[in-house]
Amino acid sequence: MRAQGKNVLTFAAGEPDFNTPEEICEAAIRAIKEGKTKYTPSAGIPALREAIAAKVTQETGWQVAPNQVVTSTGAKQALYNTFQLLLDAGDEVILLAPYWMTYRDQVELAGGVPVVVKASREDRYIPNPDQVRAAITPRTRAIVINTPSNPTGAVIPREILTQLVEIAVQHNLWIVSDEIYDKLVYDGEHTSVASLGEEVQRRTILINGVSKTYAMTGWRLGYLVAPPQVAQAASNFQDQVTSNPSSVTQYAALAALKMDMSGVTAMREEFHARRDLIVQGLAEVPGFQIDLPGGAFYAFVDAHERLGSRTDVEIADFLLEKAEVALVPGSVFEGDGCLRLSYAASRADILEGVRRIQCAMKEWN
Ligand SMILES: Cc1ncc(COP(=O)(O)O)c(C=O)c1O
Repeated sequence: MRAQGKNVLTFAAGEPDFNTPEEICEAAIRAIKEGKTKYTPSAGIPALREAIAAKVTQETGWQVAPNQVVTSTGAKQALYNTFQLLLDAGDEVILLAPYWMTYRDQVELAGGVPVVVKASREDRYIPNPDQVRAAITPRTRAIVINTPSNPTGAVIPREILTQLVEIAVQHNLWIVSDEIYDKLVYDGEHTSVASLGEEVQRRTILINGVSKTYAMTGWRLGYLVAPPQVAQAASNFQDQVTSNPSSVTQYAALAALKMDMSGVTAMREEFHARRDLIVQGLAEVPGFQIDLPGGAFYAFVDAHERLGSRTDVEIADFLLEKAEVALVPGSVFEGDGCLRLSYAASRADILEGVRRIQCAMKEWN
């Protein structure tokens, strides 16, 4: 539509609209000029693995050694490695819906079977531990936890996380904890699963990366932190798939992790203001139910009241045609009847996008 000259506003992308901070770019340029352009160890350069281990230890209390860290081409590859290692054919993995759709596909690519436990807006998209317990079978191998969440922005409170990990301990499950949005929390604080004790750390594969925190989505650098034997297996596995993530990117990521946090704080404050703006505007659309999400950069609207006999995909198509606004239908994330809008867009675009949605929805009957 844009190619036809239409002014489409997009709230579909899962990436910050900011540029990567200058300091990080400079570190990458330096790495290139200094010839740091060769293969590195598959799990990453020692300095980066040390910096990640130090960060996780400092933030969670998990005493992580550098050999427990494996860097990859994005958190996506770290997750892919994880499922390939943990799952045999037919092993079940609990996914807490609405969830980031990649989990399902990656579990299936590893021969696993996703078992979905759903939460709705009435639950504020927080998983119910009793329902999780009820979903466990002798084939359950792992549970995936993602807080703050893509697509709902929900931040799982510490008490609920504690109950979820207790279930994992009781049933001898792996905990795959995707914390890629850990620095984008607006109310309260992020709780890492890894801060919940040694019993939990022994079964945790912590996933994170620099994409969202430092506006580095295109650089491709994520990592897993795991017990040593799992990390070693991930490194061996990756060795035969892609080897190391880009050497230049690793130096950029190292600079990001060493950087003073003021740049990240400024981005978070801007996202915070945009969250309030978009949620306020969407809540004014009759039949759109939305609460303030605690983190990430997604607004998740429950549009059930407006569906009638139609679906969220039809609303998304209608808004694209009528309002020239792009967003993602919730059914993509097993959040049927909902709509996901990323507010990684300028305040001006948010105001205009919301205005267009408000107008168009008057014609949706
Ligand atoms: C929940 C979640 N995990 C992981 C990722 C992947 O991040 P990366 O860019 O590091 O591969 C994303 C990206 O959208 C995400 O939303």
